Amino acid sequence: MAILKLSLVLLVLHVVQLQGNAMSDCDAQTYLWDDLNGYRRSLHLNNFTDNSNAACLANKIAGQLKKKGTCENAFNHSSTPGTKPNVTDFDKLLHKCDIKDKHAVDGIILPVCVPRLDPIVVFSNYTKSQYAKYLNNSNYTGAGIASENNWMVVVLGTNTTSGNFSGAASLIANISMGNYMLALFLGLLLVSVS
Ligand SMILES: *[C@@H]1O[C@H](CO)[C@@H](O)[C@H](O)[C@H]1NC(C)=O
Ligand SMILES: *[C@@H]1O[C@H](CO)[C@@H](O)[C@H](O)[C@H]1NC(C)=O
Ligand SMILES: *[C@@H]1O[C@H](CO)[C@@H](O)[C@H](O)[C@H]1NC(C)=O
Ligand SMILES: *[C@@H]1O[C@H](CO)[C@@H](O)[C@H](O)[C@H]1NC(C)=O
Ligand SMILES: *[C@@H]1O[C@H](CO)[C@@H](O)[C@H](O)[C@H]1NC(C)=O
Ligand SMILES: *[C@@H]1O[C@H](CO)[C@@H](O)[C@H](O)[C@H]1NC(C)=O
Ligand SMILES: *[C@@H]1O[C@H](CO)[C@@H](O)[C@H](O)[C@H]1NC(C)=O
Repeated sequence: MAILKLSLVLLVLHVVQLQGNAMSDCDAQTYLWDDLNGYRRSLHLNNFTDNSNAACLANKIAGQLKKKGTCENAFNHSSTPGTKPNVTDFDKLLHKCDIKDKHAVDGIILPVCVPRLDPIVVFSNYTKSQYAKYLNNSNYTGAGIASENNWMVVVLGTNTTSGNFSGAASLIANISMGNYMLALFLGLLLVSVS
């Protein structure tokens, strides 16, 4: 019984410790989400919605930038609509996230590098720089956020087909599912009419 109690205590300690460790990276992202959406509300714009493909891409890019080790000028690795960011193997990263090139052209990639990702510095890096004009633009409706070490990456997308980061495969699946449902519906209609 005592052993059981002891292992229970150890287990609880372990879980608390794990959470303590995992918090920091997650925390930085959560702070930024809340801060960016607060910023959007202050500009009378809608919250960013979570775009999971954009988040996947942000995560892959953060992984690439992490390899640089030290912080360097992050603006060098950003992208504006219609341009590709200066990130190693960018096309491969798109592919890994099942994003079709043509659905990414209007998206933008905004990395910053801040020692220990201090939330206040990160936030002001986004809102007090050349990046601010993208945050203050109602055309960007979705976002994905990821971080690795000192790098934070925000990927913004639109709700149009040229910037929603959707993948070809899922789009085709949706269309064929739609056709299938339509055929089924028409079939049922014909059966009930005759
Ligand atoms: C926007 O996001 C905040 C949290 O970040 C939430 O409290 C609020 O309800 C959201 N607003 C809308 C309109 O979804
Ligand atoms: C791309 O980034 C590297 C540093 O990683 C830099 O040396 C190079 O000048 C950059 N190229 C462009 C076109 O921004
Ligand atoms: C990258 O950033 C450095 C430091 O600000 C700058 O001198 C350089 O011109 C940038 N490179 C490119 C290609 O933009
Ligand atoms: C962000 O803040 C750091 C200071 O911590 C600064 O060196 C850097 O140039 C800023 N901008 C970006 C895009 O990271
Ligand atoms: C945001 O954009 C609007 C115009 O679209 C402009 O009037 C306003 O000053 C901008 N605000 C900031 C903080 O950039
Ligand atoms: C939003 O996108 C439309 C269509 O591409 C464009 O005409 C408009 O100028 C954009 N608005 C802003 C604030 O960038
Ligand atoms: C796209 O976003 C704009 C601005 O938030 C909104 O007015 C429009 O209805 C949205 N369109 C779709 C198809 O969701």
